[in-house]
Amino acid sequence: METTPLLDRRIVIVAGKGGAGRTTVAAALARAAVRAGKRVLLAQTNAPPRLAHLLGCPEGIGSEIVAVGEHLWAVNMNERAALREYLLKVLRYDSLYRALFDNRAMRSFFGAFPGLDAWAMLGKAWWHTTEREGERNKYDLLILDGPAAGHIVTLLRAPGAVAAAIPMGPLARPATAARALLSDPARAALCIVTLAEELPARETVALARIVRESLRMPLGPLIVNAVPPAAAGRPELRSVLDRWAGHFSVPALDSTLAGAAILAARRNDAERIIDGLTRDPALPMILLPRLPTNDLGPAEVEQLSRLLGP
Ligand SMILES: Nc1ncnc2c1ncn2[C@@H]1O[C@H](COP(=O)(O)OP(=O)(O)OP(=O)(O)O)[C@@H](O)[C@H]1O
Ligand SMILES: [Mg+2]
Repeated sequence: METTPLLDRRIVIVAGKGGAGRTTVAAALARAAVRAGKRVLLAQTNAPPRLAHLLGCPEGIGSEIVAVGEHLWAVNMNERAALREYLLKVLRYDSLYRALFDNRAMRSFFGAFPGLDAWAMLGKAWWHTTEREGERNKYDLLILDGPAAGHIVTLLRAPGAVAAAIPMGPLARPATAARALLSDPARAALCIVTLAEELPARETVALARIVRESLRMPLGPLIVNAVPPAAAGRPELRSVLDRWAGHFSVPALDSTLAGAAILAARRNDAERIIDGLTRDPALPMILLPRLPTNDLGPAEVEQLSRLLGP
């Protein structure tokens, strides 16, 4: 069966273990999509302020959508602001908003309703996929830089939870529409970002299982980020290390060889883990290299984006 190319879908959710590189990959996907001619909204949920640096946007990215480049917009959503906007703009329920926020009893009902906070953000994301500008969609693609593993599941369960808890009325319709969008392989994908390391790989297998069996969402390619360089796994290097490591009394040389030995071991581990990932979760994979810098910026994002799109 033909699958819709990732960047031709309407929403791509970037998920994965904390620190695996979700924000970096989301930024790189956004750049790739813009190059492919898309108008892109990159949305984050309560994220630390790294994205602005990655996109070279000194003004920062807050809870209001800002243009961060040609055909690229970004927003860092939070529950309160998203819910307010959702009730006022989407549902046009000024009275409901006032009731929810001005009335103590309603406020505690709200706190007691699990899923509504998460829905506020996912609902906002969904709503932006429906926005029109003249004859066309305002955004062709929404990229969601999702929260880390456990929280993403809560977030993605929100439409179902809302539709089940309040099956009628103004919250149910968008929740049902969001569920339909998120489960449609022609329009949505969830991309897991992982490192080629033991723990993230284990979380990847668990998350993919939940996505397939419980959330029933289409999975995009598995993005293996920060893979150590292939050169570090070459047999020639192994033989040099075996022969010469620790043989010199030149500290700079010995420490260089020790560093190379660590890198070689990492590369070997990474290859073994990638091999395991080909069997489970058995998704198409995109490998992104570990770049030799601690301060990733727009140039590195551009470099990674070339491996994710045109
Ligand atoms: N391919 C790469 N090469 C080198 N460093 C990388 C690469 N990808 C990410 N990093 C670095 O790893 C760290 C984590 O990346 P990033 O912030 O994108 O991850 P995250 O999954 O969004 O983290 P968080 O859970 O904090 O949101 C950052 O310091 C980033 O610069
Ligand atoms: Mg992040």
